[in-house]
Amino acid sequence: MIDVLIVGGGGAGLRAAVAVAESDPSLKVAVVSKVYPMRSHTVSAEGGAAGVIGLGDTLDEHCYDTISGGDWLCDQDAVEAFVAEAPKELIQLEHWGCPWSRESDGRVAVRPFGGMKKMRTWYAADKTGFHLLHTLFQTTLKYQDVLRYDEWYVTKLVVDDGRVHGVVAVEIRTGRIEAIAARTVILATGGCGRVFPFTTNAAIKTGDGMALAYRAGAPLKDMEFVQYHPTGLPFTGILITEAARAEGGWLINKDGYRYLQDYDLGKPTPTPKLRSMELGPRDRLSQAFVHEQQKGRTVDTPYGPVVYLDLRHLGEGKIDARIPFVRELCRSYQNLDPATDLIPVRPVVHYMMGGVHTDIDGATPVAGLFAAGETACVSINGANRLGSNSLPECLVFGRRAGIAAAAFARSHRDGEPPAVRSQGADERRRLERLREGSSTGERIADLREEMQHTLEGAAGIYRAGDVLTKAVDTLAELRERAEEVRLDDTSTAFNTELINLQELHTMLEVAQTIVACALNRQESRGAHQRTDFPARDDAAYLAHSLVHRAPDGTPSVGLLPVTITRWPPGERVYGRD
Ligand code: FUM
Repeated sequence: MIDVLIVGGGGAGLRAAVAVAESDPSLKVAVVSKVYPMRSHTVSAEGGAAGVIGLGDTLDEHCYDTISGGDWLCDQDAVEAFVAEAPKELIQLEHWGCPWSRESDGRVAVRPFGGMKKMRTWYAADKTGFHLLHTLFQTTLKYQDVLRYDEWYVTKLVVDDGRVHGVVAVEIRTGRIEAIAARTVILATGGCGRVFPFTTNAAIKTGDGMALAYRAGAPLKDMEFVQYHPTGLPFTGILITEAARAEGGWLINKDGYRYLQDYDLGKPTPTPKLRSMELGPRDRLSQAFVHEQQKGRTVDTPYGPVVYLDLRHLGEGKIDARIPFVRELCRSYQNLDPATDLIPVRPVVHYMMGGVHTDIDGATPVAGLFAAGETACVSINGANRLGSNSLPECLVFGRRAGIAAAAFARSHRDGEPPAVRSQGADERRRLERLREGSSTGERIADLREEMQHTLEGAAGIYRAGDVLTKAVDTLAELRERAEEVRLDDTSTAFNTELINLQELHTMLEVAQTIVACALNRQESRGAHQRTDFPARDDAAYLAHSLVHRAPDGTPSVGLLPVTITRWPPGERVYGRD
């Protein structure tokens, strides 16, 4: 029997696997991933990983930037633990072989990043996620006992009497459906950007872990907080890293004007400065874009309105040394060279601040069930995550969840309960029925597109109560229609239609929680901006949203107090000393 079964092979999942293997080599650990682990979305993280490294910086300053950046919705005990452990994790990565970029004297290099008032973002050029994931993956290979289920898709958690006992999963290559018994499960499947039409997220980011936990009785937290990154390539949504602005890039509107100076984010400087306005927090920059659009100062393209990112003044040498991937992406996907051309960009869904409700060790309210990384909401990101906090979040809380799950498994040595076999058989029957065919005529892709446009319209950068209310009804109807879909593809080998249908159900449930939480929060805070409630309201909403799945399958939203330790709520100030 598996002691710790990890769902997801990205940064948080692999860090958890190493932590389990190191904490007790006698434990059996498995990683189940719907893609080969090196294809997890962590691989596409670009700009860097934050961790205090000295240079006049302090842990308290990193805490404060994170908490004010999150508009005071972060749990401050979690932030303190995160900030203290992040540098240790980054040094650990160095020891495992991560090739951090260096200064000419050999010290690890750091760059400024959005909303961070000190330079503390470690990087490996602009392919940080690639190197980080490689390092973790190679490290897991040292441990013979990390069993891998590559390209298996988990459809269900086995839960009995309030405790998790394993998962049911489909082997995508063969269609084999298996119940895998485990003493603990860690969910590390990343976010759910694909519920929106325009996102930096890979096609695999469909909120699987969030939905698995939610259906199993664990609540989701702060689901209304959806981060738009200000610089995605139009059409593809490919991320142009914030590192491009950290290295001195400018955002300009159709008149060639650095418009962010009009939005209380500081004044333009000719050379990059730590607190330059292009390095404001992502929520504010994305909101500024909408205002520019309303003023008619964006540029219309076939793929929506854009502004420009100007890197031309950086010169080819700096672009190639510091942000070579930006150049590669622009050439391959936009047919332009940032050394000589302006890059069209627009805000794009990038990250979920919300996720599975956990404590500081990744434990959910379901015994034996843990979550870490973007899937989870610990919460250190509050209403708006700062760029470069998410890679260290995966490391710090992946490790914590691994250690906590290992301890749980050691203290629960009981054998496999009958629920594993019986729930496995039920799930096998359900999936086999779907594969019997007889399509209703509804296409998965059509339903998915309707869902995505509903979310964009109702839960985008700005929201309003009446539109959200309509979205509640639309999503309920889409869920009913999705229940009727049967498959055209009745084969077993690589039946991706079967997987896509599971993902559609998953995304619809997660989408419902986003809309329900956004409707319930009648204030504006961080990435959640209500045009009908434009002010922050600490008296009523200095609280997390907690959403449970009601017995009828609909979301039921409540509030949970935020933990404040040393930083009482204040004003968010950028661009001023
Ligand atoms: O822009 C970026 O490189 C993104 C980093 C992040 O989301 O942490």
